[in-house]
Parts: sequence; structure tokens; C-alpha cells
Amino acid sequence: MQIMSSSKTPSSTLSASALKPLKLNSSGLGQSTKPSSPKLSTPKLSFSLGGDSQNTAKSDTTTKTTFAKSLFAKPKFAAFSIGEPTANVIKKPAPWSPSTTALILVKREVETHDSMSFTFAAADEALFDFKPGQFVTLAAKIDNKTHYRAYSISSVPQQKQLRLTIKRVPDGLVSNWLADNLNIGDSLSALNIAGQFNSSDCKHKSKLLLISAGCGITPVMSIAKTLLAHDSDTDIEFLHCARDKDNVIFHDEMKKLLAQHRNFNVQLLLENSDGFASFSADKNTDSCALSHQTGMVSSGVIQQLYPDLKERTIFLCGPVGFMKAVENIAQESDFDMANFFQESFTPAANNEQQDHISSDASTASVMLHVPDFSVEKEVVQGSSLLEVLENNGVPIIGACRAGVCGSCKCKVTKGSVKSTSTETLTAEEIEQGFVLACSSTVEEDVAVALS
Ligand code: FES
Repeated sequence: MQIMSSSKTPSSTLSASALKPLKLNSSGLGQSTKPSSPKLSTPKLSFSLGGDSQNTAKSDTTTKTTFAKSLFAKPKFAAFSIGEPTANVIKKPAPWSPSTTALILVKREVETHDSMSFTFAAADEALFDFKPGQFVTLAAKIDNKTHYRAYSISSVPQQKQLRLTIKRVPDGLVSNWLADNLNIGDSLSALNIAGQFNSSDCKHKSKLLLISAGCGITPVMSIAKTLLAHDSDTDIEFLHCARDKDNVIFHDEMKKLLAQHRNFNVQLLLENSDGFASFSADKNTDSCALSHQTGMVSSGVIQQLYPDLKERTIFLCGPVGFMKAVENIAQESDFDMANFFQESFTPAANNEQQDHISSDASTASVMLHVPDFSVEKEVVQGSSLLEVLENNGVPIIGACRAGVCGSCKCKVTKGSVKSTSTETLTAEEIEQGFVLACSSTVEEDVAVALS
């Protein structure tokens, strides 16, 4: 998935005021939002989880790499000599550095008919250090062109392996290429791990409500698993929405966690079948069963399931429409939005389709100048700045393509663009003319620099 935006929104308690039944788009990858002030719309960071707008292409550039034995070697012990402490000291692997070490695919797992988990190890033994909820930007070389996409991490930090869970995007270039072409032993390079939507930076209470839909479950699962792995006393309620049971990513994994942890509860809200379903677990016998009820997401359902809602911190991730609906429920319910964090994932393909629509709507043209790369080109007014830069050979990176990751930051030195996201930009950078190319359209003659 390509990354998103995280947001924190001050809010209020849930009132029973009705929301219309929510139609979930379980394909969702998207945007994430940041905390915002009460009653204000939530700042959003968005990124797509996997895929852009073309059909899969076979790459001949992916390096087939033999499994590095060192990846699975036993921990090394430090040597000691007379005068030094005699206890063996386990040498901890160094943190993974994406700038120097490639990722090697060690496992592929089918999650649903259109989503898959990819587990990577570093080419040199290393620990993956990240904050639960963050994403990594992969570089996929397809037909001799490198495409960058940000995908949420679904594993826990400080492990020798990193798991990404990616949903195919219809006509998405990278998500489909990964699913169809990346095999065990193949290597990929990556740019960085980042993301403001995480349970380390977003200060939370000892009671959480995790809400996700579709592939938005990925970062939320990382948050839940990390807290549970550390025997946290945090009371975790998890509400996940999907089209139907077959489209529930991590279905079996959630059942296992449910049976193992008294402080963890899961509710599923299914668009099809009988609507509402919930896991119930007998924590004494470790048995776990799936029960069904009828229901749709609404303030009434939220109030019924979580009468202590105001005592919780909410982490929310899913398609934009879903997240907006949940945010509205929270605001209408006087939930304290300072305890509301969200990140939405919108497929890159969707963004690109929107870009094309806006481009088609205008036949007027404007001039694009990029002096550092000798680009002087007439482009359609209203075009995506990121697309016109890419199409004209400017080496700009658009990892999330949704205004969340900041990789496409560039500076407009002449003229202006219309922007829908300034996430990751400081007030000073905005003042200086920096924009996010993926979230900007060219409306008049502009000159652009990459730094
Ligand atoms: S590509 Fe991520 S912010 Fe533009």
C-alpha cells in the first residue's frame, strides 16, 4: 500500500445521531490524517498502498538473490577475555538501513483473493526498526523504469523480518507487478520507513479503539500486535469492516490473538452476508468462535459496542469515504478529537484516474519549466504536477501519490499551482514555495525545481 496520512482530530462522544448505512469500499488504500483541532476537518496524510495505473509488466531487472544464510544464522556471541565479564553477550543485529541494504523476499502469503503479505529480510542481517503504523517506500523496477510506492507495515518492530500486506489495485502497476512477479529470493530496494500515523508518536490512553476497513487493517494490525507482544495492559478493541468474511485480511491471525489475549477484542462489520459479525472467545479454554449479528456502521452501532468510547483513543484507517463517515460519527458524538488519529489509503490508480479526469476537462495549455533538467514543455492546464514532471523525465519520486509521504516535495519558483495537500510541509517550506507535486495541479505557467 502506498502511504497515507495520519491525523489526529479532536472530537466528542458518540451521539446516537444517525449516519446513513456505510457502504464500505474494501479495496481501500489510502490517505491518513493527522490530529486536528476539535470540530475541524482532520488533516490528512494520504498514500496509496500499492499500485499505479498500468497493467503488470514482467521485469527482467529484479535480482534473483540466493537466500543469505546469515539472515537466519543463530545470534552471535561476543568474545570475552580475562578481566571482562564472563557472561555471554548476545550481539544484537544492527538496524536495517534502506540506503545500503536491499530487501530479500522470504515469504509470500495469500490473505484474500486480492491481497497478499510479503515478508522480507535484509540482505545483511538486520533488525527492522520502525514505529507501529508506519510504512516503507519500495522501489520496483519495471520495464527499466523505477516506480516508488509506499506500503504499510503489518509486522512488529525490532524483528529480523518485515511484513508488508498489499492489496491489488485494479490496473495498478506496482501492486499487481509485486503480486505477479516477486518471488522468494528476489530483492527489492527501498527508500525509507516513515509515517506520522503510529502508536509511538500519537500519544494514546490505556484504552484503544482500532477501526479499519479493507486494506486499512494493515497499519492498525501492526499497532495491535506490537502492543500485545509487549504484554501491554492496554485495553484494545478492534472494529474491522470488510465486504464479507472472505475479504477479511488477517482473519485467522485475529482469531489467534483473540484467543491469546484477554485485553484484546475484535468485532467484524461485514457489508454483505448478515452484516454484523463478531468473534467471541472463551479466554479460559482458548477456544474462539465466530458469531453473526445484523448491523451497519453507525453511531448507534458504535455506541452499542463501545459504551466507554470517550475513555478510548481511536486509531482509524481505511478508504477516504469510510474514514470520513467514522470521523463524522465521532464528532457528532462529542468525542474528544485530540484522541482521534486516522490514516487513509487511496489506491494510486484512483488518484491517477482523477488526474486524468481533471486533465481531460481542459484543453487549455500552460508552460512547464524545469531549468535544472532542461525541460520546457507545453502541458494541459489542470494536469497533475507529478505526472507532467515524470512524463518529462524529471527524476521526482512519487511514493504515495496521495499527499502523505512527502517524497514528491518540489519548489515552485515561478507561477503557482493548486494544491490539495501540504501534509509533511512546514509553514516555512510552504512560504518558500515548496509543494507536494502529487497533490498539485498546474493551472498557469510554472517553473519548478526539485530542491
Ligand atoms: S508522493 Fe507522497 S506526498 Fe506526494
